[in-house]
Amino acid sequence: MKVQGKHWRTIWLHDDGASVGILDQTQLPHRFETATLTNLADAAKAIQTMQVRGAPLIGATAAYGVALAMGAGASDAALEEAHRVLLATRPTAINLRWALDDMAAHLRAVPEAERAATAYARAAAIANADVAQNEAIAKHGLGLFEAAQRGGAAPLNVLTHCNAGWLATVDWGTALAPIYLAHESGLPIHVWVDETRPRNQGASLTAWELGQHGVPHTVIVDNAGGHLMQSGEVNLCIVGSDRTTANGDVCNKIGTYLKALAATDNGVPFYVAVPGTSIDWTMGDGVGRIPIEERDGAEVASMTGLDEKGALATIRLTPAASPVRNLAFDVTPARLVTGLITERGVAKASRQGLAALYPEHYPKEPAG
Ligand code: MRU
Repeated sequence: MKVQGKHWRTIWLHDDGASVGILDQTQLPHRFETATLTNLADAAKAIQTMQVRGAPLIGATAAYGVALAMGAGASDAALEEAHRVLLATRPTAINLRWALDDMAAHLRAVPEAERAATAYARAAAIANADVAQNEAIAKHGLGLFEAAQRGGAAPLNVLTHCNAGWLATVDWGTALAPIYLAHESGLPIHVWVDETRPRNQGASLTAWELGQHGVPHTVIVDNAGGHLMQSGEVNLCIVGSDRTTANGDVCNKIGTYLKALAATDNGVPFYVAVPGTSIDWTMGDGVGRIPIEERDGAEVASMTGLDEKGALATIRLTPAASPVRNLAFDVTPARLVTGLITERGVAKASRQGLAALYPEHYPKEPAG
């Protein structure tokens, strides 16, 4: 994706063949800054402090974190330690565990002397596969958008929550991928961007990246979506997912569930863009079972932005004595999801729907 006309990925290997570059997302939209990861601790910190975030990018960063660790020593113990440290960074996005298990399986199969090179190659493959998956999601989603827009002159009004754009992945994004492709193909489109309190990934990140690409968009407060749907100003909703379970329940940024309820009540299609790497095949259903991250209450009690002099400032919003709770994700039951847009096509949000696209993850019914 492009920033001021230059193509960027969100993570890359530096020319030294060892250190890893990232965009520091904690600085956006006010500053465009890169950072360099040189060891395991840097990678873990980048995920924990959300310099990188979004399920697919968390997975890719963890893969490079293992490579950085292997560069410093590739014993079985070092591999286990890297897996343990990185897995503890954030609890909800399943891409983290998927990437770490994938790296460990590939690295255990080779001798210690080959592990660093194998780890870098595998991390690059994971990053490249993410880009390819998202491009496929873009194409499948575009078909749905075209059908919804019906070739008229009026823009298709799409509502999205959080940031499931290229900043949340290696490139393209998941939920925003079909939006970019639609815009490039000349389909008139306008995006309602939920601000997504408390960290404002919508207002800060989604709005910024849509703006870089010239996609018409409007930032709204999180509570506006229901009213807009009731007024006929939303044609469809599309969000990403941190973990979708084998029956199609969707865990995503807190507030997604409320948007799905409003969409269902108003007959607005509610789609989830989800690559196979964000599906937890080991979990039958998600409500009450997916670990929901709870973050520092300071994110709810305060807000950071530019002051009138253009300096970054943090202000307190709540009374100092009021307790706060900061739940980062919620689960939308499959029954509220119109369809799952995957790299293999669009699936019904159900066990049967996903099994039709990913039969290798579902045991065959015994014959007779
Ligand atoms: O806490 P974050 O910013 O990592 O949460 C990100 C989201 O909830 C995204 O919607 C999700 O990871 C899907 S990203 C393609």
